[in-house]
Amino acid sequence: MAAPGFVPPPYPHDRLRELRAVAEAVPGGIVDCSVGTPVDPMPEVARRALADAAAGATGYPAAIGAPAYRQAAAGWISRRFGVTVSADAVFACIGTKELVASLPRLLALRDPSRDTVLYPAVAYPTYEMGARLAGLRAVPVPLDDRWLLDVSQISEADAARALVMWVNEPGNPTGAAGGAEHLRAVGDWAREWGAIVASDECYAEFTYDESGSAAAPATVLGAGHDGALAVHSLSKRSNMAGLRAGFVAGDAALVSYLGEVRKHAGFMTPAPVQAAATAALADDAHVDEQRARYARRREEARRALEEWGLVHDGGPSTFYLWLRSPEGTEDGWAIARRLAERGLLVAPGDLYGPDGSAHVRLSLTQTDDRLALAFDRLAAKEPV
Ligand SMILES: Cc1ncc(COP(=O)(O)O)c(C=O)c1O
Repeated sequence: MAAPGFVPPPYPHDRLRELRAVAEAVPGGIVDCSVGTPVDPMPEVARRALADAAAGATGYPAAIGAPAYRQAAAGWISRRFGVTVSADAVFACIGTKELVASLPRLLALRDPSRDTVLYPAVAYPTYEMGARLAGLRAVPVPLDDRWLLDVSQISEADAARALVMWVNEPGNPTGAAGGAEHLRAVGDWAREWGAIVASDECYAEFTYDESGSAAAPATVLGAGHDGALAVHSLSKRSNMAGLRAGFVAGDAALVSYLGEVRKHAGFMTPAPVQAAATAALADDAHVDEQRARYARRREEARRALEEWGLVHDGGPSTFYLWLRSPEGTEDGWAIARRLAERGLLVAPGDLYGPDGSAHVRLSLTQTDDRLALAFDRLAAKEPV
């Protein structure tokens, strides 16, 4: 008899197996825009630093991060957001997914009096999973008509039990961002209720305005460090998802606690990866290039998908398009199937929560050539 304990649900993207086969069968092959895994080049500075550091990596790296890495992260925050952070208030993580999945457990050990994780109702699935792995209540917070957290809809009972509140701006999968003012409101709400605000800002470098021009990114730390953690990743900013590098900055007491527990648990970012991330953080030119590349792809993809009959219904940021049928009545899986029959694989919106079920998410992480093929197929009258 099976043990009656935790049974992991199917991994969200594994649910696409059947649609993937449909797209793969199209002559010329699949154009896979279902996953946000970067394909553009890693910056040369990072590649060089990685190679140079590899030979010297005989000893264990510091779990909290090498001083140079923490300094580079603090320097980047100050440069990009105009917010001062001490290098002592930064710790390294092995990419941010492990951090998102493990944070609630570590925070619950610190404060067992609270048992609830709040997260956006349409969001990266790992926020909910982190709560479940910790044995905590996972409570989705409804989004408003701009896909932003609507804290007014959180019940007082849930607010009083809230250990941590996740916010993700610019947001996956919707591309929405409320900017500094919204992050201040969310941070203030959390402080008022004694919850920690964890702000996942891994798409900050891909903040755009409605015209598609680069816009200033925002951080929750702009409204104060008290009870706040800003979560950052090199995966998207510097096309380094395969190396696994991220960091967290914010409330000094929380950073010190988390750095200490994570040291006991052996959460260590490999030293050559830290060296590559340090070099990448000091360089903005490659990010400017990537930002322009995604802006162009957003524009081209939006035009192609709208001409095909879908409506873009998300915000202007990130490298995702958030699409639905014109009436908003067609199910996301049905839209994804129609696209798969044209060789284009996208993610049905319910992978991000039931409130996303009438949408699909298209990730612009394919080369320009493959995207051009996908758009040509959509423009053809009959499926090719
Ligand atoms: C919102 C969000 N947070 C965190 C992550 C994790 O990124 P990584 O673990 O590569 O830092 C992702 C990855 O897609 C994401 O979309």
